[in-house]
Amino acid sequence: MSERWIWPGPEGGPARLFDELAARGFSVLRGDAALAPEEAARAPWSFAERLLGARPILVERQPIKAVPGGRSFAASSAAAPLHTDSQCFAGAPPAVQIMACVRPAERGGGCLLLDGWPLLSAIERADPELFRALFTVYRRIPFVFGDFFGPTVSLRGGALALTHAPVVPPGDGIAARLARFVEASRREVIELSLGPADILVVDNRRMLHGRRAFEGAREFVRLLVWTEARLPSPPAYDALAAEVAGAAARRLTGAPRATRRRLGLGAPPPPEARRRLGLVLEMLRGVPPGVLAARAGIPEPELYRLRDAALAAAEEALSGDAEGADDGALAEALGRMSRG
Ligand SMILES: [Fe+2]
Repeated sequence: MSERWIWPGPEGGPARLFDELAARGFSVLRGDAALAPEEAARAPWSFAERLLGARPILVERQPIKAVPGGRSFAASSAAAPLHTDSQCFAGAPPAVQIMACVRPAERGGGCLLLDGWPLLSAIERADPELFRALFTVYRRIPFVFGDFFGPTVSLRGGALALTHAPVVPPGDGIAARLARFVEASRREVIELSLGPADILVVDNRRMLHGRRAFEGAREFVRLLVWTEARLPSPPAYDALAAEVAGAAARRLTGAPRATRRRLGLGAPPPPEARRRLGLVLEMLRGVPPGVLAARAGIPEPELYRLRDAALAAAEEALSGDAEGADDGALAEALGRMSRG
């Protein structure tokens, strides 16, 4: 079992957490009353903000427990193969995965982690052709939540991200070759047995995670968190991914903005737009408008105007066949890129 520390500890909470994430890609801690698993379930945004020391861009909460008839890894007791959680917001997967243990399994259920940076390094030495393909070949990577589009290793939201689905899709030679390296790295896999109230925090763009099969009423609260802060990645890999993204962005100059965004090529929104979106999201989560207005230093009527503008834009985007049209453009863009 890896060393578990007690929050906030003498070195301070978020600072120590980020030090450990930078050094080895994960951290295990025991929280205080405000960082109990029940709080992760009840108030995920404030839980993530307290743990990470900054207001998140987005938080997604999901219970991880077996339910009768559950077929996804989240809802069953089966072993989960190593993978990343790559559901994207604005073209980027969550920066951080938080797993708060409500109840461990009676038998089995260990959390498995594999560091993606040494894995890439091993591939670079043993199979340079595959290493290059991981950075340059745009492919469709299927997950239960939908498809991820782009290179296996790519810049997403300004940070390097490794993407690996739990199941190798038929006919995908790159995925199959990568899976063989993951399998061969079995001795590098870290297994953690978490107890009640333990919190595992993982750099989700760097680490693969999985789980042993289990028996008993194992239950976790999982938070996926998109953050402004980015965690470090190997500079040589950053540079290679930036070169590929730059070339792709030049080729896709005329492609729809939504397509560019899904490939991680869209320009980040201006800070003011991100701030306004943050206010709208807080308002929709039930933070009192008076509190928000006072904190942001803007009149309450302006908050309501922002909310209405954001929801009108969302309604417009969700009407008609916008998603299907985007997939068509994406397929065309992928074809153009594979033709070089
Ligand atoms: Fe997962």
